[in-house]
Amino acid sequence: MIYFAPMSMKKIGILGGGQLGRMLLQAAANYPVATFVMENDALCPAAHLCHHFTKGDITNFEDVYNFGKGLDGITIEIENVNDEALERLEKEGVKIYPNPAALKIIKNKILQKQFYRDNEIPSSEFFITQKASDLEQYQHFLPAVHKLAMGGYDGRGVQVLKTSADLQSGFNEPSVLEKMVDIKKEIAVIIAVNEKGEHAMYPAVDMVFDQRLNLLEYQLSPAQIAEKVLWKIEAIATKLVKHLKSPGIFAVELFVDKNDQVFVNETAPRVHNSGHHTIEGNFSSQFDMLWRVMLGYPLGCTEAILPAAIVNLLGAEGNSGEACYEGLEEIMKLDNVFIHIYGKKETRPGRKMGHVTILSKEKQELIHQANRIKNTLKVTAAMPQKEGL
Ligand SMILES: Nc1ncnc2c1ncn2[C@@H]1O[C@H](COP(=O)(O)OP(=O)(O)OP(=O)(O)O)[C@@H](O)[C@H]1O
Ligand SMILES: [Mg+2]
Repeated sequence: MIYFAPMSMKKIGILGGGQLGRMLLQAAANYPVATFVMENDALCPAAHLCHHFTKGDITNFEDVYNFGKGLDGITIEIENVNDEALERLEKEGVKIYPNPAALKIIKNKILQKQFYRDNEIPSSEFFITQKASDLEQYQHFLPAVHKLAMGGYDGRGVQVLKTSADLQSGFNEPSVLEKMVDIKKEIAVIIAVNEKGEHAMYPAVDMVFDQRLNLLEYQLSPAQIAEKVLWKIEAIATKLVKHLKSPGIFAVELFVDKNDQVFVNETAPRVHNSGHHTIEGNFSSQFDMLWRVMLGYPLGCTEAILPAAIVNLLGAEGNSGEACYEGLEEIMKLDNVFIHIYGKKETRPGRKMGHVTILSKEKQELIHQANRIKNTLKVTAAMPQKEGL
C-alpha cells in the first residue's frame, strides 16, 4: 500500500482500534504525525480519529505485514497481535514499540514468569502445566492461581484453585500455576522508556477491589502506601523494564502482601487502563508520553497536577444492545470530573464502555465522588434484550 503524508511527518500505525487506540489518537492530534489504525471492525472506537483506517486481522501475518511495511513505526493496544510479522517489519527498518522480543516474552505468561525468575524480579512461585491432568501433582501447592499462557484478558483465563476438588477445573492448555499471594494491595506503575534507554515513571496507582464481587471498584493515584514499600516497587519496576530492553510504555501490575513483600503480577507493554487519569491528572499523560517516545521528542513530566481517581464505566448486568448513558448529565454537573465515553455502539454486561476521572486534593472527596459516580452513572441498553432471546 502507498501512503501519502508530508515528508516531515512520521507515519505511525496502531494495531487495534479500541479505547486505548482512541485515546492515543486524541493525544496524537497535538503533534505532526500521520496516524494509521488496523482493526477488523470499521466502526471501532479509534476508526474515525485516525488519518488512515485499514480493516484487517491484527493476528494475521499478511495483514499486519502489509499494514506495517510503509510505516516508520508501529505500536499496539493489545498484546494479541502477530509478532512474526512485527519481527519481519523490524528487520526491514520499521520501529516497533514495544520491540517484538519484549512483546514475545510478555504475550506468553509462561515466558513472562520465566523472565521474572531469570532476572531475579520478585514474582510469586510457579509451575508450568501443559494440560489439566498435570495439576494432580500440585495438591501441596494450593491455594494457587491457574493462568492460561496465551490469550487471557480482563481476568478471563485466570482461575483460583483452592481445594483438590478445584484441580479438576484447571485449564487443559499450556498455563502457569502460581502460588496465591495474600494480597493487601494491588498497585500499578507505568514507565516510559525512550530509544536512548531513559526512563520516566508515573506515580503508583492503587487498584481498589470490591472484595465481595472481586471487581475493580476504582483506582486512586498516588497510591496510599508506605514510602519504603513504594521505593521497593519503583526499584522492581525499573529493573524490569531495564531487562526488557525495549522502548515504549510499560504498565507493571504488582501485589503487596500483608508483610509488605512486593511481587510482580504481570506487565503490559502498552498504554494501560491504570493510567487513564494521567490525561487530566498529570503534566504529560501516558498517551502523550508514548508519542514523545515514538516521535523522538524529550520525555514528558510524569508529575501529578492533582491526586486522581478513575471509575470504569462497565455495561450493566442484564443489558445488551444499543448503549444508553443514564445519569450522565447529573455527573457532568460535578466540578473536576471528566467523562470519557469510548464510542462503542453496543453495550454488554461488563463491557468497558468508558471511564470517569475525578481530581481533588482530598482523598475522601475522591472516594466520595467515585462512589457517587458508580451509583449514578449506568450504561444500559436503550431497548434491553430479553433473557434467552
Ligand atoms: N498469584 C496470585 N495471587 C492472588 N491473586 C491473584 C494472583 N494472580 C492473579 N490474581 C488476581 O487475579 C486478577 C487477574 O489476574 P491477572 O492480572 O494475571 O489476569 P489478566 O487476565 O491479565 O487480568 P487483567 O487483564 O484484568 O489485568 C489479579 O488482578 C488479582 O486480583
Ligand atoms: Mg492483570
